[in-house]
Amino acid sequence: MDVENLVSPVIQGSDDNILDATLRPKKLTDFIGQHTTKQNLQVAMSAAKGRGESLDHILVYGPPGLGKTTLANVIAHEMAVSIRTTSGPAIERAGDVAAILTSLEPGDVLFIDEIHRLNRNIEEMLYSAMEDFAIDLIIGKGPSARTLRLDLPKFTLIGATTRIASLSSPLRDRFGMVYRLDFYDPPDIEKIINRSAKILKIDIDKAGLSTISLCARRTPRIANRLLKRVRDYAQVHGNGVVDAVTSKKSLDCLHIDHYGLDEIDRRMLRTIIEKFSGGPVGLSTIAAAIAEEKETIEEVYEPYLIQMGLLERTGRGRKATPHAYSHLGLAPPHAV
Ligand SMILES: Nc1ncnc2c1ncn2[C@@H]1O[C@H](COP(=O)(O)OP(=O)(O)OP(=O)(O)O)[C@@H](O)[C@H]1O
Ligand SMILES: [Mg+2]
Repeated sequence: MDVENLVSPVIQGSDDNILDATLRPKKLTDFIGQHTTKQNLQVAMSAAKGRGESLDHILVYGPPGLGKTTLANVIAHEMAVSIRTTSGPAIERAGDVAAILTSLEPGDVLFIDEIHRLNRNIEEMLYSAMEDFAIDLIIGKGPSARTLRLDLPKFTLIGATTRIASLSSPLRDRFGMVYRLDFYDPPDIEKIINRSAKILKIDIDKAGLSTISLCARRTPRIANRLLKRVRDYAQVHGNGVVDAVTSKKSLDCLHIDHYGLDEIDRRMLRTIIEKFSGGPVGLSTIAAAIAEEKETIEEVYEPYLIQMGLLERTGRGRKATPHAYSHLGLAPPHAV
């Protein structure tokens, strides 16, 4: 098995991926926000360095675009070790995981993205790799089959997931540190946009910064993406400067409102309110009604709507809050 097909040190692909790579902070001091996580990590990293040991395994979870992959790379950089990146669905066979693990150097970081999508037997191999730094391979078949124990270098596994609940507890329990990335406060999002604008040499004023930051769903990836779109607009329709007017107009063109909601968010809330009397209504029913995948709603749209107090998750399904009614300009339901 060719390990290089499974682990990719370089990020390739679309324009946004390339943009992601340019803007991705490398040092912990450039990683904005997430103060508690950074503090705890700092302690763990200094302690491991002091003892000359590899860092304990780390699980990072949270909605898309909040910095899980970035943080894994920052950790490897700060520990001055190499990072090998792979993802749950990319590892199909036991041989794949053995090839990756045996190619690691002592102290290296193995980053497994979407770790909740590992298949069961691979996950079980990871248990002994994480705990004893060894794996047992079965060689041959039938009565002549025997197990071969392979010792591994002491490495650090960093797992990332958007769905912590889908992770089995034996796997979760083997991580010495579990960090949850939260949505960013608007001032931190402003700092991120400011940093990206400097790197991309975009002329942006204070009003432009705050307009984009309010629409960025408290998410760094979206903040960077909007900055790029607004820059295009300012270049074509203005004098290239991102200010209050150009940022507002370009976000209007993208149908993004001042809460950062796009058409799908609004359609979802409107559907719950108008078709299901505000809820509670089951996730599958909402998914069918707005023709979106259930998983996408759960992982991408819903966390932000809940965070903004527009949606409530109840035992009987999703419910629109009074705040959602007023945001959409609808009359609130009568109290019963
Ligand atoms: N704390 C941060 N400070 C500055 N920029 C950040 C920060 N976190 C993320 N970013 C920016 O946001 C982009 C997206 O982050 P990243 O790819 O790490 O998210 P993710 O959590 O791995 O998302 P996914 O779940 O989709 O894999 C990065 O390219 C980086 O530029
Ligand atoms: Mg990622």
